[in-house]
Amino acid sequence: MQRWVKVTAFALCLLPFAWIAYAAVYDQLGPDPAEALMVSTGEWALRLLALCLLVSPLRAWTGWATVMRLRRMLGLFAFFYACVHFVAFLQFYTGWDAAALGEELAERPYITLGFAAWVLLLPLAVTSTRRMQRRLRGNWLRLHRLIYPAALLACLHLLWQARSDLGEALFYLAVFALLLGWRLQRYRIRSRSGAAAHS
Ligand code: HEM
Repeated sequence: MQRWVKVTAFALCLLPFAWIAYAAVYDQLGPDPAEALMVSTGEWALRLLALCLLVSPLRAWTGWATVMRLRRMLGLFAFFYACVHFVAFLQFYTGWDAAALGEELAERPYITLGFAAWVLLLPLAVTSTRRMQRRLRGNWLRLHRLIYPAALLACLHLLWQARSDLGEALFYLAVFALLLGWRLQRYRIRSRSGAAAHS
């Protein structure tokens, strides 16, 4: 892939973080900085997860094979924003107290859902290297299908906390449902043509 495409994508993915960090340092996050941090990092995690899943359909529609090389970067950035989101939560909501974290997880279902999404993303980030891909072979693909339940849990996490405005959560649910539907459809077509070739 042309190097500038990767460098530009990297810089674009980092830009929201740079802006959030700048705003935090210069007290520009508004009247509730903790909430602003949680909302902005959570939204970027979800957007990048959606972009990561959009790579394969984009390749199929446009034939632009090299776009596939951006997939890992987008996934890792989604995880990065989810980690910043989690760190902000530990800082502002629990004060890094394990008992307080346990209480939040036990008493607030939307926190449990977000945490579960983050836990599912963790092994994907750890095994994202080429070496792990080679070592795990077929299991790597199976493991990386966890991205779908992770995305679903993240949407439910958003839906659960949306009090009156359900629009955003439903928008993301629809996006992920379309992306998953596209893959299921492709899988069905492939297995049908495979069965025809063997009959
Ligand atoms: C350790 C896991 C997580 C915890 C503890 C957590 C906690 C929270 C909390 C407390 C809020 C509410 C912020 C507020 O309105 O004051 C929030 C919002 C949000 N979180 Fe998470 N979250 C977690 C994981 C995730 C993940 C993995 C994603 C996405 C991939 C995500 C996406 C969002 C989004 C989009 C919002 C709301 C933004 C809005 O109100 O528009 N969260 N999260």
